[in-house]
Amino acid sequence: MNPLKRLIKGEIGRNIISLGTVDSTNVFAMDLGEKGALHGTVVVADCQTKGRGRMGRTWVSPAGVNIYMSIVLRPPFKAQDSLLLTVLAAVACCKALRDSGGGGVSIKWPNDLVSGGRKLGGILTETKFMAGKILFAVLGVGINVNSGPADFPPDLRPIATSLMIETSRTYSRTALTGAIINEIDYWYDTLVKKGREPLLREWRVLASTLGKSVIVKAEGEAFTGIAEDIDDEGMLLLRMPSDTIKRISSGDLTVLR
Ligand code: BTN
Repeated sequence: MNPLKRLIKGEIGRNIISLGTVDSTNVFAMDLGEKGALHGTVVVADCQTKGRGRMGRTWVSPAGVNIYMSIVLRPPFKAQDSLLLTVLAAVACCKALRDSGGGGVSIKWPNDLVSGGRKLGGILTETKFMAGKILFAVLGVGINVNSGPADFPPDLRPIATSLMIETSRTYSRTALTGAIINEIDYWYDTLVKKGREPLLREWRVLASTLGKSVIVKAEGEAFTGIAEDIDDEGMLLLRMPSDTIKRISSGDLTVLR
């Protein structure tokens, strides 16, 4: 039996596809979604040749050191609630990493996992809609686990990190992947059965950006303000210098020190 499969507690991860090298686990999982893959199907890979990040960026994906995973979900949600899936994945990853010894990990809106002020992981949610509802979604999770500075291209070294760089020890990728899948299962179940409040409450506990002065690049502009909260769809509520609140659905946030 796949050792990862033994760690799975819930519905998500009942079906796991383990790949050696793939272009992108998200591309692979979107294709599976189109072909009718079951809710909770997980795709993991050792290495990606065309790992995708947000906003058309590349996700550096060397072999043998990190986690590259995509999960097909079929949530009974409206299209406008799709950002909640990114919130869910960020909470689940952050909790699993903290429970595994990565104590300093926190969430930077919308989808970054940060430690020591540098990026340790990210989430790329891709969604197929039909008639105003989510037909299926793919949660793509990339976590830098055992990569060293030399695994990052020089331009990323000042802004990227890994669990190993932060804590000076190595981690079992299988154990961490299992912990993340089980946390995603727990938070998915909570969201469906109890609504969004428990998830949003946990996000606020784990986020390191709330209450800070930030600059957000969104809609082709840069907005400066205080990151006050997220709303019940997961949108950032930015208090502007004019004292009005701007709701932002996606963008790049930098904390101003
Ligand atoms: C980001 O912060 O820009 C999101 C990064 C998401 C990377 C993961 S790695 C597994 C999955 N497959 C991809 O091609 N991307 C996501």
